[in-house]
Parts: sequence; C-alpha cells; structure tokens
Amino acid sequence: MNVLVVGSGGREYSIGLALKKDDNVKELYFAPGNGATFNLGKNIEVSNWEDLADFAKENNIDLTIVGPEAPLVEGIVDIFRDKGLTIFGPTQKAALLEGSKIYMKNFLKKYNIPTAKFLETSSIEEANEFINTLPEPIVVKADGLCAGKGVIIAQSKEEARKAADEMLSGKAFGEAGKKIVIEEFLNGYELSVFAISDGKKYVILPAAQDHKRLLDGDKGPNTGGMGAYAPTPLINDELSKKIEEKIIAPTIKGMNDEGVPFEGVLFAGLMIVNNEPYVLEFNVRFGDPECEVLMPLLKTPASELFYKAATKDLDSLNIEFYKKYAVGVVLASENYPYGKSKPAEIIVDEIVHKDLAEHAHISYAGVSLIEGKLYATGGRVLVCVGIGDSIKEAREYAYLLTGQVHFAGKKYRSDIAYQALKS
Ligand code: AMP
Ligand code: GLY
Repeated sequence: MNVLVVGSGGREYSIGLALKKDDNVKELYFAPGNGATFNLGKNIEVSNWEDLADFAKENNIDLTIVGPEAPLVEGIVDIFRDKGLTIFGPTQKAALLEGSKIYMKNFLKKYNIPTAKFLETSSIEEANEFINTLPEPIVVKADGLCAGKGVIIAQSKEEARKAADEMLSGKAFGEAGKKIVIEEFLNGYELSVFAISDGKKYVILPAAQDHKRLLDGDKGPNTGGMGAYAPTPLINDELSKKIEEKIIAPTIKGMNDEGVPFEGVLFAGLMIVNNEPYVLEFNVRFGDPECEVLMPLLKTPASELFYKAATKDLDSLNIEFYKKYAVGVVLASENYPYGKSKPAEIIVDEIVHKDLAEHAHISYAGVSLIEGKLYATGGRVLVCVGIGDSIKEAREYAYLLTGQVHFAGKKYRSDIAYQALKS
C-alpha cells in the first residue's frame, strides 16, 4: 500500500522507519517531513489539509497516518474522510480530548474516570474562591492548546492567583487561556500509556516513561521530552489492569456513548498515586519521544496496525511486540527549550561496531538539508535509540550512539531511564 505520514518530527520519522521495513508498504510520503525523512520516502509540501487530501487522492494513498495534534484539532481527519480517504487519527470532535482541558475534565467527571479535583472557570472571583480551598501547591491550566506551556504548578496560593489572573486576562496565552482549569496537585510518579483504538476496540502498547525536564535528576524547565524508554518496570500487572479497567476502557466506551467514537492514539498522561492511576491529561496522538521507543518494539507490521485501526477492524488484529527494551536519548540544540539556536552541521561517525549498528539507530527530528548537508535546525534535533534485552543494555547502546553524533551545542540528559535502574 501507499502510505502518507503527516508531520515533521522524530515521532513521524520513527513511524516512517517502521513502515520502511514493512513489506506491505510500496510508496512512502511525508508531509512536510524533515531534512532526513526523504531518506525513507518523499517529502511533500503542505499548504492546507484540503490540498493534501487532493494529493492523497491523486497519488492513490491507501493510508494516511497523522503524527501531531495540530492537524487533528484542525480537522484533517474529517477532511480526508469526506473525500473517501482512509486516515488514522481522531476526528476534530474527538480531538477535543486534547484540544480542550475543560472538555476532557468534564468528560472524565461524567464517566467517573479518576482525575484530580478541579474547577473550570472564566471568572477570577470563582478561581480565587476555589484556590482558597486547596492545599499548596496548586495547578493552573489554560483550556486550549499552548504548545505544552499552559500548565503552571503554583507553589503558593498567591502564585496560583497570579497565574489565573494572567491567563484569564489573556496576557499569558491569549484566547487559549480565557478559560482555565484549577486543580489539586497530585503527588506521585508519571506514566504514559498509549492505546490504539478503532472507535470500539483498542490495543494497549507497552508502557513508556518520558523525561520532561531539561536536566539530569528531573531538574530545570519542562520540555517536550528529553528521552524515553519502554517497557517500564514502574508498571506491574495489577496497575496495568487498573489502568485498563478504570481509564482506557471507560474512555473508549464513554466517547462512543457521547457519539464521538475515538479512533487513533489515545495517550493517557497518568499520575500514579499510591498505586492508583489518575488522568492528568489526554493527548490524541503519540508522545514524542515515546513513539521513537515504541515503534522499534512493534513486531506486527506497522501498516497493518494503523490500517486496521483506521478501518474499524482491530478485532482481527493479533498485535505482537518484541520481547526487548528500547531507550531513546534526545539530543537537543544549544538554546532549547528557551529559544532558537544557530543551525549546526550534524556529523555522524561511521559506526564500525556491528553490534552497535544492529542495536542502535537515530530518529531524526529538527533537521534540515542545506546544500546536501544535514543541519540541526530545531529544538530537539534527533533521538538516539538503543534496543536491548534489558533496559541497561538498551541504554548502553543509546548512549554509545550519542557519542557518535556531533553538532555544535549538542546537549542531552545523561540519566535517561534512571528510575528503572534505581533498584
Ligand atoms: P498536562 O499538560 O496537563 O499534562 O501538564 C503538564 C505537566 O504538569 C504534567 O506532565 C505534570 O508533570 C504536571 N501536572 C499537571 N497536572 C498536575 C496535577 N494535577 N498534579 C501534579 N502535577 C501536574
Ligand atoms: N513527550 C510528551 C509529549 O509528546 O507530549
């Protein structure tokens, strides 16, 4: 089949890598792709989703897979479906699970799905009243999409009142912050769980852990994610059963009952408190860099998984994963996440050790091809992924590979997967 992947990050590159080794895939396209995806397929320029759908029709694309949330929230799935195309991802309505925190929180409340106690409001008086009832710290969130920056963990009530005021006045996030959610702080550890659903059935992928902070030891500012690994031992059978029964199953069923079946990747950002899962957020797409460590573990051909999910046929899928571990270390550019960095040429040493070549690879993200040379031009530049029989082995391969990749200003965390190796 011919497949089109929408997006330009490491996530989309890793989906591309999985499709590349899949014998069912004939032509592979990326829209817009990055400076390295053209090694896997063809890059297509995008002006709008209507035109991209026309491109898909004209080029006999059998399956389109959408990576990032923005096109989903903008309704790319609805546009493609209207033209009779098969596309993997949630409709614009279903994407509200990520696009609006208020929609999500009210949905969770209605279906008794565990989440932090909260208030949605657009009034500063109401906000202050609720803030007064909560213990510190207090979490203040903008309703809309703010590129991952719309969440403030306020250490004091005063700080919470200030954050609420700045959001509601439009000063902090413009329109996206004119409605807010205030919620209790949950103290536990975070876990990302991914389920792929065709609207009714779902399959749950191995649990992954992301590392959101910039610096070792989970210090420094929040980022899009500095590294991930899977499967994580932070989840046992008992917890995984609770996550399925209390979170994933009722969410898929609830969305159906709402008349908005959820098709695509349901990314549940969970906080585990005393061995009980609570939903912090939903995303309607794969996490990045979580996707980069999940895709290499997938034994089932990627095209089969995504095609069946996009055509309400997951019933007939027997999903299999390799009994391996994957660790991904993000190499970011100098000024990430504060600002742009000067483009820097990327040099990758020849990998002479067969062992390393077999057990590690790069998933390219913020890279551009300039006069035939690959440059680091984005915040998160690439992910070094190691695969092994243990987390320790996978991590060694990933870090060995980081030593073979060079660009000015390269920075990365040296402790990815530390929580899994603590004991
Ligand atoms: P969100 O975008 O809602 O997932 O929030 C971003 C990050 O803020 C999460 O990954 C958590 O680290 C933190 N966070 C959000 N909500 C809470 C909460 N209620 N309690 C504790 N930490 C939270
Ligand atoms: N790595 C977290 C995210 O993709 O949102």
